[in-house]
Amino acid sequence: SAAPTRAPEQGTGVFSKGRAAISTRTLRTDTWWVPPLVTVIGLAAFIIYATIRAFVRTAYWVDDYHYLTPFYSPCVSTSCVEGSSHFGHWVGDLPMWIPLGFLVLPFLLLFRLTCYYYRKAYYRAFWLSPPACAVAEPHAKYTGETKLPLIIQNVHRYFFYIAVIVSLVNTYDAIVAFHGADGGFGFGLGNIVLVVNVLLLWAYTVSCHSCRHITGGRLKHFSAHPVRYWMWTQVSKLNTRHMQLAWTTLATLAITDFYIMLVASGTISDPRFIG
Ligand code: FES
Repeated sequence: SAAPTRAPEQGTGVFSKGRAAISTRTLRTDTWWVPPLVTVIGLAAFIIYATIRAFVRTAYWVDDYHYLTPFYSPCVSTSCVEGSSHFGHWVGDLPMWIPLGFLVLPFLLLFRLTCYYYRKAYYRAFWLSPPACAVAEPHAKYTGETKLPLIIQNVHRYFFYIAVIVSLVNTYDAIVAFHGADGGFGFGLGNIVLVVNVLLLWAYTVSCHSCRHITGGRLKHFSAHPVRYWMWTQVSKLNTRHMQLAWTTLATLAITDFYIMLVASGTISDPRFIG
């Protein structure tokens, strides 16, 4: 007997067969477009600021207090200003079109680009797929993350491991920054800025969905793995705040860099408590 045949579908997503044919894109009457708009403005503002700062090569290191902006850390080129290369020089001079933070900036970008929260944010805000709940997307086809190119988003877990290394480097920078102008221990407002930033970066990194899976995933019996169960419980609590941490850390990264730029350029002086 003949195999059952299926009529070709007109499209996928809201255009697929079996979905109600509603001609307006949404029946929502609230301001559903505000969150995607705020997302576009927020992400664009950070990307523009970070790109400019990554390339300018000025005011990224405060020699008196050993403050280094996270955008230039680790600074491993001989182009880096004296004192800023905490881990030595791995490469020679770099042309102006290569940022001095080249070693980690691409990975930090990829970590955030493949982050489960940011994916939701930019799929909605930039790709409008869909722009909000119960608002039809403009695209005729929807393959989601099941095919190239978006199936590559699955590599997020590997960027998580790199992000952990970068957080360790930032932690080292924050510790080295307890430096007085005359040598020895020092403590100023810049230290508070750097430490708050690094603590929030850890919170964002540890609250990652991949981290949650690494700590507690694939276990059949939590009772047999009390340590991993405890870690998973803690990560799960932080994980509920992942979106807030994603935005907070964008802000603290920009504020930390901006503060160090102001001090390094002599625009303001760092209020000192010790040293
Ligand atoms: Fe957002 Fe991993 S899910 S950093």
